[in-house]
Amino acid sequence: MNEFQGNPNFNISNQTVSASCPSNIALIKYWGKYENQIPANPSISYTLNHCKTNTFMEFFADEEFSVQTYLAGNEEKKFAEKIEKYFKNIEDFLPWILKGKYIIRTENTFPHSSGIASSASGFGAIAKCLMDLDEQFSGKIADDLKAKKESFLARLGSGSACRSLYNGLVVWGKTDEVEGSSDLYAVQYPNEEIHPIFKNFNDWVLLIHEGEKSVSSTVGHGLMKTNPYAERRFQEAHENFTILKEILKTGDLQNFIKLVEHEALTLHAMMMMSEPAFILMKTGTLEVINKIWNFRKETGLALFFTLDAGANVHLLFPGDSDSDKIKEFIVKELLQHTQNNGVVKDEMNF
Ligand code: PMV
Repeated sequence: MNEFQGNPNFNISNQTVSASCPSNIALIKYWGKYENQIPANPSISYTLNHCKTNTFMEFFADEEFSVQTYLAGNEEKKFAEKIEKYFKNIEDFLPWILKGKYIIRTENTFPHSSGIASSASGFGAIAKCLMDLDEQFSGKIADDLKAKKESFLARLGSGSACRSLYNGLVVWGKTDEVEGSSDLYAVQYPNEEIHPIFKNFNDWVLLIHEGEKSVSSTVGHGLMKTNPYAERRFQEAHENFTILKEILKTGDLQNFIKLVEHEALTLHAMMMMSEPAFILMKTGTLEVINKIWNFRKETGLALFFTLDAGANVHLLFPGDSDSDKIKEFIVKELLQHTQNNGVVKDEMNF
């Protein structure tokens, strides 16, 4: 039992709700988990401004429980099965959830095949819709508890989704460095402890490889259970929080770059050290990384990268006066390593 336990007294009716939720990109990565989506280490991410999922949910009360899902107008049976399983899993927290039929229409503002994680924004938007329904059926709850429960529910759909419910820099997983942090839901990193340089940033995602990845993140997390380097990695993530806290406060961009790139490469190193090993980076990923390093050496400009569990490269750079030179370099030198000149331009301003 916890504070998210559902109210057993509810009154259901036909309803339509909608919600929008952004994606996020982690700086300190979550990779490895325990039972019930408990993360093996704390993580922190930027919530993106533009890459979002918009979701419309129709609930038909007192019909047999079923879920139909449409992605950009096309029926997606596999996604519906996943959502059915998810709904069954969260009944303790929303006791009315299996008492009706759902039609869920969802669309992303970024290309579907881009490999940008739509599970974070997707489950974030679904959790928001569910909490709107919950308020209709079980009565209003305080705004801060509602946001916390949205994050809690999103986590049970896809771990990193819980961070998408807040703007700015967001922390998930217990760490002594962030007051109020929890393994069960995400919290916003205190705004007043972030130097202004980190509050206006670009994230341009180079689409090196579009389409399905060869190994899902569920399988990847699972392989951390037998990875001989796992414990050291989890410990390092904690240590990196201590370092990052100081960096964020002082505006130490050089050490920010060092830490963020190290985290990205560690994530992929963990994949290579798994049994069986797997590699999600492509030739283009490595070519881009080398070009970024050369560019930084030659110009001293703050262009750097992070990686998700895939081949695409998130190009990070401050939204300051140097950004035009950096953008020119990206278009001239980096775009050629993408599959279809694909780049998704996002930013973080808060
Ligand atoms: O939320 P999941 O299970 O898709 O895991 C995502 C893990 C990474 O994107 C690689 C890192 C992170 O912290 O977002």
